[in-house]
Amino acid sequence: GELRGRGVWRYRDLLPELKNVITMSEGSTPLIRLRAYPNAYVKFEGANPTGSFKDRGMTVGVSLASSLGVRGIIVASTGNTAASAAAYSARAGIECMVVLPKGGVAKGKLGQALLHGARIVEVPGTFDNALEYVLSTVLESGSAGNASYYPLNSINQWRLEGQKTIAYEIVEEVGVPDYVFVPVGNGGNIYAIWKGFGELMELNIIDKMPKMIGVQASGAAPLVKYWRGLGEARVDKPSTVASAIRIGKPINWYRAYRAVKYSNGFFIDASDDEILMTQRVLGREGVGVEPASAASLAGYMKALREGVIDPSDNVVLIATGHALKDPDALLRDSVHTVSISSIDELKALIMGRSIIDV
Ligand code: F0G
Repeated sequence: GELRGRGVWRYRDLLPELKNVITMSEGSTPLIRLRAYPNAYVKFEGANPTGSFKDRGMTVGVSLASSLGVRGIIVASTGNTAASAAAYSARAGIECMVVLPKGGVAKGKLGQALLHGARIVEVPGTFDNALEYVLSTVLESGSAGNASYYPLNSINQWRLEGQKTIAYEIVEEVGVPDYVFVPVGNGGNIYAIWKGFGELMELNIIDKMPKMIGVQASGAAPLVKYWRGLGEARVDKPSTVASAIRIGKPINWYRAYRAVKYSNGFFIDASDDEILMTQRVLGREGVGVEPASAASLAGYMKALREGVIDPSDNVVLIATGHALKDPDALLRDSVHTVSISSIDELKALIMGRSIIDV
């Protein structure tokens, strides 16, 4: 059909039909070419209403929940899903309960959940424990329609329908890239994007698929482990500075695996040092992302170093969330800060060296 307007719902022909659409113009995010890597574009999902790609899925999920007439929604989250769920349920006028790993959520995300009036429940352990709390209560208490709190975790396939529009937007702007790098936590997003490209293949809008590359933080890399044949896709104590993807038991692990395997891609990991360094590389190009989102560029740089991909290949790097989400990660970088107390000192600084110092 014809495309009108902007954002996720301009693709409504390829989305679930819902009677009550809760939207804040999510989607239509910038695709930014990198200076340092001219064949790489960053898909800047930080430009969504709550600052992450989760809004693309939440507009679909909350529209469904609202159409079902439930009292509220419930999610376990490392933070971005919580922020998005809180905002979209507030727009819909329904309740929102977020179950979070205590001490494991970046401050910006926690603040958003508070701002939008979600009920916050903190549990001990990691995201994996929080998800267990949600799944073993809500899902066992009856069918979704009857439960008073509708579960909107990424086990919920409706959200992935919204997230697949990332693929549509990439194709509209630059066609089919050779590779798409995606930071992987639960594995829902990489699957959703792959599904989006697959649908465009079926519709004969494109004639080849990109290779899907899943990037995980080294300390929380169950899918890299599985990919290398080193056992099940789970690790017991996930640990990384990238709190958004600090996940040991990805609920969508098999979907993520399928996306990577059947697109002839691969999984790769990046250390915390690489992730933080890459976050600065993007920052110095004016692109502000949270640590988890820097993983896609970190994976790309590593793949280039290892020679598994070529600098002439066209790539899209999914930057999943905004830098402001995790202020603590930004404030680690204080080498550019100097305190002075006189105008003369500032004059000396300006005369002394270029202020466009990298
Ligand atoms: N990047 C960011 C910034 C995220 O918040 C997430 C997931 C991912 C990547 C990974 O996406 O789970 O689909 O593989 N965050 C979830 C949350 C877990 O609760 O906000 P995935």
